[in-house]
Amino acid sequence: MKNNRFAVIAALECEEELIRKELKGISETVLLNTPVYEGMIGENDIVLMRCGIGMVSAAIGAQALIDMYHPDYIINSGCAGALDPDLGIGDVVISDSVSEWNLDLRAIGFPMGYVDALKTVEMKASDELCNMIENAIPDDIKVRKGKVVSADQFVSTADQRAFITDNFPDALCAEMEGAAVGHVCTQNNVPFCIIRTMSDTADGNSGVNFAEFSAAAGRKSAEWLINMFRK
Ligand code: ADE
Repeated sequence: MKNNRFAVIAALECEEELIRKELKGISETVLLNTPVYEGMIGENDIVLMRCGIGMVSAAIGAQALIDMYHPDYIINSGCAGALDPDLGIGDVVISDSVSEWNLDLRAIGFPMGYVDALKTVEMKASDELCNMIENAIPDDIKVRKGKVVSADQFVSTADQRAFITDNFPDALCAEMEGAAVGHVCTQNNVPFCIIRTMSDTADGNSGVNFAEFSAAAGRKSAEWLINMFRK
């Protein structure tokens, strides 16, 4: 990978700090009340935003990055709660698509997750970018490619989990920013991908597990991105 500009958007400090510490010639600014860092990793120009948790923060962050920095690609990196029973803490999901699991227009005849502006329930990630990320992850790490779902809810109950898996049976993991980033990128025609390392299994233990494992999980996703930027 050479001579590309990647924008990376992460909610939490533990999800962005490894990348920040790798930036050569780092400069820092504040955009939308959130920190943005710019620098080089390998031969690529990286713009890194710590947007805070949630869909609106991720959406306005992604739009601002597109408008101000015109990135070639946008990546959302961090941790997530696993929905697929085949996935455990420490496993990785790379998005082939994203959906907004609580965007609900069913009362007026549309399926769950329907994005009116795009006339679809799923936003497709960039195959090229997802393959580049996958190729940067060591072989001994379990990686699944598939659907990432997001909403402004931390998933920690059987009811939330059943609602998601009933409506999005192919969802691999849940988090709170990826589909917002994917939505903004799709409306702007910017290729995107989400990488998430599992911090919990989106169930009754997810609060406790998140507290214990989110920092390590967030750092792992960042580590694989650094590998890719250096290649
Ligand atoms: N991020 C990490 N774990 C999560 C969960 N269980 N729900 C939503 N976002 C998460």
